[in-house]
Amino acid sequence: AGLRVYDPAFMNTAALSSKITYIDGEKGTLMHRGYPIEQLAEKSDFLETAYLLIYGDLPNKSQSERWRWEIMHHTFLSDDLCRLMQAHRYDAHPMAIFASTFSAMSAFAPEANPALQGQNLYINDKSAMNKQIVRILGKATTVAANAMRIRINRPFVLPRSDLTYTENMLYMMDHMNEPSSYRPDPRLAKALDVLFVLHADHEMNCSTATMTHVGSSLVDPYSAIAASACALYGPLHGGANEAVIRMLQGIGSVAAVPAFIEGVKSRKALLFGFGHRIYKNTDPRSKIIREVADTVFEIIGAKEPLIEVAIALKDAALADPWFQEKKLYPNVDYWSGLVYKALGFPLDFFPVLFAVPRVAGWIAHWKQLIDSGTNKIARPRQLYIGEKRRDYVPLESRE
Ligand code: CMC
Repeated sequence: AGLRVYDPAFMNTAALSSKITYIDGEKGTLMHRGYPIEQLAEKSDFLETAYLLIYGDLPNKSQSERWRWEIMHHTFLSDDLCRLMQAHRYDAHPMAIFASTFSAMSAFAPEANPALQGQNLYINDKSAMNKQIVRILGKATTVAANAMRIRINRPFVLPRSDLTYTENMLYMMDHMNEPSSYRPDPRLAKALDVLFVLHADHEMNCSTATMTHVGSSLVDPYSAIAASACALYGPLHGGANEAVIRMLQGIGSVAAVPAFIEGVKSRKALLFGFGHRIYKNTDPRSKIIREVADTVFEIIGAKEPLIEVAIALKDAALADPWFQEKKLYPNVDYWSGLVYKALGFPLDFFPVLFAVPRVAGWIAHWKQLIDSGTNKIARPRQLYIGEKRRDYVPLESRE
């Protein structure tokens, strides 16, 4: 009774209305607040795109300066939080560190918790909301960089607020404790920034749906970000960029591509970096990423042996009727992993490079939900298919 629609995995259910991102999966269109992703990738940058997603319009000059200043001045983490991060083992997955640090941040920020400050905290006090927004965006890069430093067993590097968002992140990750002598190549910082623009939001993907689902309970935004990061961690979502490289390494050579394709068709393996719930012709982001990849390979100069395998695999899949019938095309993760690999990041760090920019989208959707003033707790229904009523059997009488 009261059950209206059965829709496993929400394949066909709109859970909310939104003004943030528009996708036309048939045409391969992606727009944020009306601006095409191609224009944002070419002309904007990540922090401006984040502002656009969160506040609805491009910032004017003074808003832009203030926004950048605030975020870069919120990149520092407290000593306590750094100590907590250091408790992780060097071989911990960086995504697990990222998620658990955001979860811990909730414990460090009681002033951000509606359970303690009143459930209408963010409806009544927009400055409290804006403060959490710049803190989360600022700290995301430092949490990510520290997770990388743990991964390579090196001490943390303090952020530099005079650098750009991605320059500072590269600086904190790569810097080998030679004070002020190291500065990342601005062309690589720009390439990473374009990747960040491309990953900033993608409407109701699994992790953003998690943000609105968990956020609807009115928990603090740090906890909701942690939950979203956990959703992104999975190999069907943000973990796919890592899975693509592991898959290409497993295939090993162009000669082994046909056998792998046959394996996918007989369902022995997934072709990671292919397929999308919404895009059924082309993922507009994968075309732009391909161009970024070429730029990065040119700057780095080293030849990436897996590229040949990647190209042969993509061509073989696109030419195969099995993949054509199922409308499977390369998605954003197919090329991004190769770029991250060329940039020298460890494989298991790749999903973190997806998570940092996606924080902008998570926040935009959280803010939209709270600002709407009509939030209701997310609570899907189910179809019960279990046992009918039965009576309890004491342990000694059970077979
Ligand atoms: N390799 C092999 N078969 C596939 C793949 C794939 N990558 N993707 C879909 N299929 C098959 C699927 O088994 C199904 O076959 P059938 O109809 O015979 O049962 C058919 O194609 C239709 O796909 P679907 O399962 O209805 O697609 P979905 O919308 O449920 O899943 C997806 C979308 C992205 C989870 C899926 O395509 C997939 O698992 N891809 C590989 C992982 C990946 O690259 N994820 C990154 C997605 S883009 C960035 C992000 O959101 O994080």
